[in-house]
Amino acid sequence: MKAFLLISLALTSTFFSFSSQEASPASGQGDLQTYIVFVDEPAAGRKLSTESSNDDLLSWYTSFLPPTTLSSNNQQERMVHSYRKVVTGFAAKLTPREAKAMEEKQGFISARVERSVPLLTTHTPEFLGLQQNLGGSDWKYSSNFGQGLIIGLIDSGIKHDHPSFSDEGMPPPPAKWRGKCEFNGKRTCNNKLIGARSFSAHLGDHLPSEEIYHGSHTAGEAAGSPVRGANVLGQANGTAMGIAPKAHVAMYKVCGMDDCPESGILAAMDAAIEDGVDVLSLSLGIESYNFYDDVIAVGAFRAIQSGIFVSCSAGNGGPSQSSLVNEAPWILTVGASTIDREIRATVVLGNNVELHGESLYQPKDLNSRQLPIIDPEATGINASARFCGGGSLKNIDVTGKIVICHMGGRVEGVEKGKEVKNNGGAGMILMNNLAGGYTTFPYAHVLPASHLSYKDGRAVMDYLNSTQSPTAAIKFRGTLIGKSIAPQVAFFSSRGPSLQSPGILKPDIIGPGVNILAAWGVSVDNATNPFNIVSGTSMSCPHLSGVAALIKSAHPDWSPAAIKSAILTTAYTFNRGGRSITTEQNVSATVYDMGSGHVNPLMALNPGLIYDLQPDDFIPYLCGLGYNDTSIRLIVQRKVKCSTEPSVPEAQLNYPTFSISLGSGDEKTYTRTVTNVGLPHSTYTCKALSPEGVDVKVVPSEINFKELKEKANYSVTFTRLRNIMARSNVSEGYLVWSSNEDEYNVVSTIAVVFV
Ligand SMILES: *[C@@H]1O[C@H](CO)[C@@H](O)[C@H](O)[C@H]1NC(C)=O
Ligand SMILES: *[C@@H]1O[C@H](CO)[C@@H](O)[C@H](O)[C@H]1NC(C)=O
Ligand SMILES: *[C@@H]1O[C@H](CO)[C@@H](O)[C@H](O)[C@H]1NC(C)=O
Ligand SMILES: *[C@@H]1O[C@H](CO)[C@@H](O)[C@H](O)[C@H]1NC(C)=O
Ligand SMILES: *[C@@H]1O[C@H](CO)[C@@H](O)[C@H](O)[C@H]1NC(C)=O
Ligand SMILES: *[C@@H]1O[C@H](CO)[C@@H](O)[C@H](O)[C@H]1NC(C)=O
Ligand SMILES: *[C@@H]1O[C@H](CO)[C@@H](O)[C@H](O)[C@H]1NC(C)=O
Ligand SMILES: *[C@@H]1O[C@H](CO)[C@@H](O)[C@H](O)[C@H]1NC(C)=O
Repeated sequence: MKAFLLISLALTSTFFSFSSQEASPASGQGDLQTYIVFVDEPAAGRKLSTESSNDDLLSWYTSFLPPTTLSSNNQQERMVHSYRKVVTGFAAKLTPREAKAMEEKQGFISARVERSVPLLTTHTPEFLGLQQNLGGSDWKYSSNFGQGLIIGLIDSGIKHDHPSFSDEGMPPPPAKWRGKCEFNGKRTCNNKLIGARSFSAHLGDHLPSEEIYHGSHTAGEAAGSPVRGANVLGQANGTAMGIAPKAHVAMYKVCGMDDCPESGILAAMDAAIEDGVDVLSLSLGIESYNFYDDVIAVGAFRAIQSGIFVSCSAGNGGPSQSSLVNEAPWILTVGASTIDREIRATVVLGNNVELHGESLYQPKDLNSRQLPIIDPEATGINASARFCGGGSLKNIDVTGKIVICHMGGRVEGVEKGKEVKNNGGAGMILMNNLAGGYTTFPYAHVLPASHLSYKDGRAVMDYLNSTQSPTAAIKFRGTLIGKSIAPQVAFFSSRGPSLQSPGILKPDIIGPGVNILAAWGVSVDNATNPFNIVSGTSMSCPHLSGVAALIKSAHPDWSPAAIKSAILTTAYTFNRGGRSITTEQNVSATVYDMGSGHVNPLMALNPGLIYDLQPDDFIPYLCGLGYNDTSIRLIVQRKVKCSTEPSVPEAQLNYPTFSISLGSGDEKTYTRTVTNVGLPHSTYTCKALSPEGVDVKVVPSEINFKELKEKANYSVTFTRLRNIMARSNVSEGYLVWSSNEDEYNVVSTIAVVFV
């Protein structure tokens, strides 16, 4: 299995929508395929410890390989990765027959072929309420900009000498750091980029440098150093900076040009855990699989056992329902939303109606007079002219006209413009399809163009219908800040409910992931610093990784679950205009679109109460999911007997949100434990904003704390009301613990499904 990078606009600001493929055999190797093999620990009773040498482990793993592979050269070729921390097991190239033969061996647990899938700022810190002045000290609760923390990214490599990874003003890495820098020649790491390793050797690539720049972008978003005058084609100009600009970066390269093999992801997580990262950021995703069958979930469990926070992209499968990846409750699952910046290109129709779209290419000397509009599809000459794909306009007279092109048809936005330009067109109006809604992208077009929302595209079509000789002009308005409908959930952001665990609300959170400016390997316009504006849940994930580093910097003793709780219970659900956050369709976003809402970093630094969890708390939950002992062992890396463990329903996990199902007349009670991290002496009272059709009772409804770290339990009973019919099969609400001084509001989102 290989994972996709969850970028949607790469290189030329394209929206890539990757679809999964069936497992494909490794090419040119006969019928050899890479298997991921799980086995017992080396010898009964002998625990795998840091003292047990790699050689011991390797010889134990090698004993599972069939004798035919044991000539030494051959063996080296067959063993792809031998895992040390992350799981007890290895990845090896085997034939199906050889893999079958391993099943007979003592200590064998399971083996399967790795799945195969192809590859999937200037303004965001400000947008998130974080000030840009690194010298300033007016943060209410100092988080030191993530100083002393290490963010590890599992990604496509990094451009080591990009100004975003300059180490000016950076202290050396903390003493615990054990990572490596595997560049060669003159290329080196520094106090910002403290580690860079490659796990893509089997892709023929041994260096952690990068071919596609995705990793430079995500690393820059999480922890990039400030770079003044960052812009693309003069737009979005400002100081580019990561969310935790003083945190260190470690890059673990797993992706080549097209994909990220599963065996390499696991090897990279193995190394990152051993190297001592504090936060792991994975802007890639596979598909929705059972947690024991999902290497990211398995690796992430091992990470939280070592106290490492794991932040992952929710996926770019939206707006379809249940399109999430990376849903495990020990992972932070991050959806993507817009920021309040637009790079405006206004279409002025012949009837003077103005429609605001976007374009990065904003020629200054453009003669913006009215030109005829042509809808090439309506000519009936070529049906594929709708999408302006290569060759589709050759028999249509578009000379000197503004051409209507629709998004989609497997043709990228800039390519559409090239087809228009090649055929003599003067400009392009790029229209969203219904699913794209209000999400628009500023492409680096080759001609005057504007990308319009679906609604504005309809207005153009209505105008075309209303007149014999429709005309339009495109006027460039530059970079504007303050869009009131931001943040808005992007159409591509994957949606819940979770397939693997509907009793846990996912996604957890949304964060900036649309049209984000950050580090790039090359200068898009050959003129300015190498930055690019791209979109995807690949972009939102590292923003949250940066936020996690800020929180951990302020609270070094907090568990990954505590950090997550702080982020979720302080999220907001209102946009800049004071209305409910909407989706790409400009309708109120539901909890399945945005989870708890939009991240609010400053509030998350001081949440008042937290819902904490230790790794072992997930065992009763996993038993409750119905996983058998073998499957659970693959996740938790030790023997578990569900017959003797308590087993709990999913919604009983001490998660900061609730996701429950109620049949008619149902009444369900769950308990939660909160820990006081606010003021030592404080009283909290509970208010429930009950979901429609549900009664919510909380006992006790008041909690008194006398000291910090004190814990308290409460129970909450959800009762489906008989006489009030909800308007839909899902209903949502909130449970809020407020402190007496109004200092804190600790909000838990409630999602109810009526069954
Ligand atoms: C970007 O902003 C900087 C600082 O304000 C300014 O000096 C520079 O000329 C700007 N660049 C562009 C392309 O607007
Ligand atoms: C129609 O468009 C396709 C490209 O989508 C092109 O290959 C084909 O030649 C075009 N046909 C005509 C009649 O223009
Ligand atoms: C344009 O008008 C025709 C005829 O009145 C109608 O069938 C068509 O649906 C209209 N198209 C749009 C986009 O409104
Ligand atoms: C930038 O330079 C490269 C290589 O010289 C060239 O191919 C590309 O077209 C240039 N891009 C722009 C936007 O000028
Ligand atoms: C979105 O919906 C609101 C409320 O219905 C409306 O006031 C607003 O104009 C809409 N925004 C856009 C951009 O259509
Ligand atoms: C445990 O569950 C896995 C996955 O469903 C299955 O393949 C395996 O056979 C089961 N093992 C046992 C011992 O039941
Ligand atoms: C909360 O409940 C758990 C489980 O019943 C119990 O072990 C713990 O002591 C309780 N904590 C408090 C503070 O009451
Ligand atoms: C709610 O009902 C809709 C329409 O019948 C269905 O598509 C959807 O899956 C249901 N949602 C849930 C969470 O069950």
